[in-house]
Amino acid sequence: MGTITNPANNQPTFLMCPPKLYDVNYVINPWMEGNVHRSSREQAAMQWEHLYCALSAIAHIHLVEPQPGSPDMVFTANAGLVHDGIVALSSFHHPERQGEEPHFRRWFHESGFAVCELPRATPFEGEGDALFEADGSRLWAGHGLRTRESSHRHLTDLWNIEVVSLRLVDPRFYHLDTCFCPLSNGDVMYYPAAFDADSQLRIETRYSPAKRIAVSEADALRFACNAVNAGRSIVLNRISPELRAQLESRGFCVIEVELTEFLKAGGAAKCLVLRLSEMDVTHVV
Ligand code: ARG
Repeated sequence: MGTITNPANNQPTFLMCPPKLYDVNYVINPWMEGNVHRSSREQAAMQWEHLYCALSAIAHIHLVEPQPGSPDMVFTANAGLVHDGIVALSSFHHPERQGEEPHFRRWFHESGFAVCELPRATPFEGEGDALFEADGSRLWAGHGLRTRESSHRHLTDLWNIEVVSLRLVDPRFYHLDTCFCPLSNGDVMYYPAAFDADSQLRIETRYSPAKRIAVSEADALRFACNAVNAGRSIVLNRISPELRAQLESRGFCVIEVELTEFLKAGGAAKCLVLRLSEMDVTHVV
């Protein structure tokens, strides 16, 4: 078991990495194109600080020290996937990010987690590509652009849980958490066109129409689905007033934080966070 357990006040625990060494150094997704060395570290630090403050009100936050040569380490969602004190450590698709693995491995080890390694031959990019249903009943897992579908079998075996595989088909939405967000009340916010037809059907089969919030392409491109949801609160990049109103009408408190500097690397709120412990689902909306 990990040493990080559900705190008494029922807030989840997150892992973040300060952007002291953040930069766009290479191009491994379409968002990074034309943005190499175009992000401001000062601006990024300010935006990250705002996100950190917003999240501190709804979660406990642990920090991992950034490491030279790993500018994308700020995107802790890709460190691995944590459940029941076990971390399925990421095995990155791109060599540019593989250098992060030993740093995250060490952090999890020193923090008391049981570390499960996934084979290099089956790339898996952690919570960026694998999201639990709010009640923990199933795991939604993306593949096609980063994570290899064959890695999903390891996740099924590890936690003995239903894994629903979803194929991502739009390179702009290269991780599942860029286009799919299960919400604490059992609804889902997602961008349907990011998935192939079979996967859209899998989503529709498991969420009734009333439970689906399909976002527009414009909101998807604002990383609306890349949202951090804890209880009633949803923290995310700037979105349209329409989507905001839609979320509020479902009882959510929407907190928008400008994250433009991180969009240049292809990430926003959710990418900058890894969930280390769940909250007690009996207390969510
Ligand atoms: N530049 C990073 C990459 O391409 C961004 C990662 C965003 N993370 C996420 N969970 N979607 O890997």
